[in-house]
Amino acid sequence: MRRLLFLTFYLHWVENSYSLNNGLALTPPMGFMTWQRYRCTIDCEDFPDECISDKLIRKIADAMVDGGYLRAGYEYLVIDDCWLEKERNNLGYLQEDRSRFPHGMVSLIEYVHSKGLKFGIYENYGNKTCAGYPGIIDNVKRDINMFAEWGIDYIKVDGCYYNGYNYQKGYEDVKTRLNLTGRPIVYSCSYPAYEDELSYPTDFETLAENCNLWRNFEDIDDSWGSVTGILDYFALKQEHIAKYAGPGHWNDPDMLLIGNYGLSYDQSKVQMALWAILAAPLLMSTDLTAIRPEHKEILLNPAIIKVNQDPLGIQGLRVFRNKGIEVWTRKVMPTAGDEYSYAVAVYSRRTDGMRVLFSIPLQRIGLNNPRGYVIQDLYGLEDWAGVYLPTSNLTVRVNPTGVVFVKATALS
Ligand SMILES: *[C@@H]1O[C@H](CO)[C@@H](O)[C@H](O)[C@H]1NC(C)=O
Ligand SMILES: *[C@@H]1O[C@H](CO)[C@@H](O)[C@H](O)[C@H]1NC(C)=O
Ligand SMILES: *[C@@H]1O[C@H](CO)[C@@H](O)[C@H](O)[C@H]1NC(C)=O
Repeated sequence: MRRLLFLTFYLHWVENSYSLNNGLALTPPMGFMTWQRYRCTIDCEDFPDECISDKLIRKIADAMVDGGYLRAGYEYLVIDDCWLEKERNNLGYLQEDRSRFPHGMVSLIEYVHSKGLKFGIYENYGNKTCAGYPGIIDNVKRDINMFAEWGIDYIKVDGCYYNGYNYQKGYEDVKTRLNLTGRPIVYSCSYPAYEDELSYPTDFETLAENCNLWRNFEDIDDSWGSVTGILDYFALKQEHIAKYAGPGHWNDPDMLLIGNYGLSYDQSKVQMALWAILAAPLLMSTDLTAIRPEHKEILLNPAIIKVNQDPLGIQGLRVFRNKGIEVWTRKVMPTAGDEYSYAVAVYSRRTDGMRVLFSIPLQRIGLNNPRGYVIQDLYGLEDWAGVYLPTSNLTVRVNPTGVVFVKATALS
C-alpha cells in the first residue's frame, strides 16, 4: 500500500514535474521583442520609424512575414515597455498611449493575428513598470482579464518598483489569473533576475511550475561583453539551473542582438549557436527591414533553429574551458539506444590574431557512443567526412571571438 501510494505520487510528480499546466512553449518560444532595438523610444516626431507605436508594430509584423521569419518559426511579436499611458483611465483600466496607438490595442492585435503571428504584451508586477508606467500589482485580476479579452498570446511580467522578497507569491497570483481567463497565454517571468540581484535564493522547482520562461540575470546590452557576461553566468550556475529547463519551462538569457550594432559577424554567430545550446527563447530585436543579408542568414539558419527547438528540451552545458577556448554541448535527437546525439559549440573568447587550432578527443567532452558519430557543420563551413569514435579528435580552427558549431549524430 505504501509502495503503491508512493508510486502514484511519483507518477503524478513526474507528469507534473516542473511544468506550468498551460500546454504552451513545449519548445523555446521564438519571436521578436521590441526592447533591445527600440527601448523606450516615445518621441515619434524625432524618431518616426523607431518610436514604440502602432506603426512600428505593424511594420515589424509585415517584416516577420515577408522576410520568412514566421515560416522559420519566429511567431510571437512582443511589445515591451512604454506602450501605456502614464495613468489609468477614470474607471481604473490600463490604456494604450492614445497618440502612438491611435487605433487602439485591439485593432493592432487583430492586425498581428491576421498575419498569422501571435501577440505578446509587457507589464510589471510592482507599482510601476521599469520605465514608469502603471504596474499591475493592485489590479491583477482586472488587467489580466482585459489582456485576455484583447487576445494576447504571451505576457512578459517584469519586476521593477516592488519592495520586498515575496515576488514568487505575486507572480503566482498572476499565474492563477492567467489560468482563470481560459486563454492559453505564454507566461514570461522576470522575478528570478530580481531575486538574483537581491541574493535571494529562487525556488526553481516552483518557478518551473509557475512560468513558461524566466529571466535569470541582467538585461542584455548591445555588446560582446554583455553576451560573454551572460554566458559566464549561465556556465557558473549551470549545475543549479540547467535541469529546470524542459518542454514548457525555459531559462531565458534575454534577446538576440543579431543585426544591431554591437556584435561582429563572428560574435553574432556565437550568440546564435550558444542560445541554441542553452535551449534559450529566440527573441530577435533588430530592424528587420534593414538587416544585412549575412545577419538574416544567421537568424534563419534552419539547422541551428532545429537544435534550439529540439523536442527533448535538454539545456546544454559548458563542458570544457582552457586558454580562452570553451566547449559547450547539448544533448539532442536522434538517440541511438541509450546514446544521445549532441550539438557541440567550440567558442573562442580570444582576441589575439590567429585562428586558434584546437583539438579534443570526443570522449573528453562526454561523447562516448562506442559506435561513433557523423558530424555536420551547422554553419555549413566544413565537410566533416567519416565516422568519429569517442577516441577520435574533434579538430577545429576557431576565429577570434568566433565559434565552430557542429552536430554529432549518434550512430546505432
Ligand atoms: C488551467 O489549469 C488547469 C489545471 O492545471 C489546466 O488543466 C488548464 O489547461 C489550464 N488552463 C489554461 C488556459 O492555462
Ligand atoms: C507602492 O507604492 C506605495 C506608495 O508609494 C508604497 O507604500 C508601497 O510600498 C509600494 N508597493 C510596493 C510593492 O513596492
Ligand atoms: C588529439 O587532441 C589532443 C589534445 O586534446 C592532442 O594532445 C593530440 O595530439 C590530438 N591527436 C591528434 C591525432 O591530433
